[in-house]
Amino acid sequence: MKDAKAGAGIRQLKTRVKKKGKIKSSSRRWLERHLNDPYVHRANAEGMRSRAAYKLIEINDKYKILQPGMKVVDLGAAPGGWCQVAVNIVKSKPEAPSVVGIDYLPVDPIPGATILQANFLDDDAPDRLIEALGGAPDVVLSDMAAPTTGHRRTDHLRTMHLCETAADFAVSVLKPGGHFLAKTFQGGAEGEVLTMLKQHFASVHHVKPPASRAESVELYILARNFKGRKAAPGGEEAAGEGPEA
Ligand SMILES: C[S@@+](CC[C@H](N)C(=O)[O-])C[C@H]1O[C@@H](n2cnc3c(N)ncnc32)[C@H](O)[C@@H]1O
Repeated sequence: MKDAKAGAGIRQLKTRVKKKGKIKSSSRRWLERHLNDPYVHRANAEGMRSRAAYKLIEINDKYKILQPGMKVVDLGAAPGGWCQVAVNIVKSKPEAPSVVGIDYLPVDPIPGATILQANFLDDDAPDRLIEALGGAPDVVLSDMAAPTTGHRRTDHLRTMHLCETAADFAVSVLKPGGHFLAKTFQGGAEGEVLTMLKQHFASVHHVKPPASRAESVELYILARNFKGRKAAPGGEEAAGEGPEA
């Protein structure tokens, strides 16, 4: 995979969408932005399923959360860009995948990744993910976003719920020393999830990679170096130094 410098391969000529026909101005603006987006061009040229792939590449270039040999869970995997990046960096083998993704949308097969087509909020999803992975993950990624309703506050709350559920999952399954990266929104009601993560990880902060559009309220929470779960008196693993895991 090539080095991910932001905007590498920027096209100099701007493509404009003509005003002919019945295309709405908001749709025209979206199309123009898409056609002129250097990350979209780069994704097409490099065989990446999504421009979102470059967000993970940029975050990983800086924080090195993915390393060869790691086991990775990718929540909200479709169309598969983050899985492609993870497979490549952890060197997951097609005959023994160490990357497992989940999405309720279909994902075309990715050699080196196991994909579950299911809702992560289903009760059995956590067990199915760990079974497919064959053990505890080193990294839990979540780029899950709720389908937009057009009502900004509702969209924020629904995506924050996904982020909180992903955080609870990470804390209940990660190996000690593991990392958690999840999409959130500026202005999201994230106080509680941040507090919980700070109790369980050595370092927690927000990241906004260059590939995340400046005008977007999207942000990522990066929690590194999971402190682990304390052994319960009965010998079983239990939640660590904070609220329920
Ligand atoms: C921004 S996209 C992920 C893009 C992906 N990281 C990539 O690089 O291709 C967000 C995804 O989250 C998925 N999603 C949202 N809620 C989900 C849920 N409850 N269970 C599974 N997937 C979910 C959506 O279907 C969507 O495909």
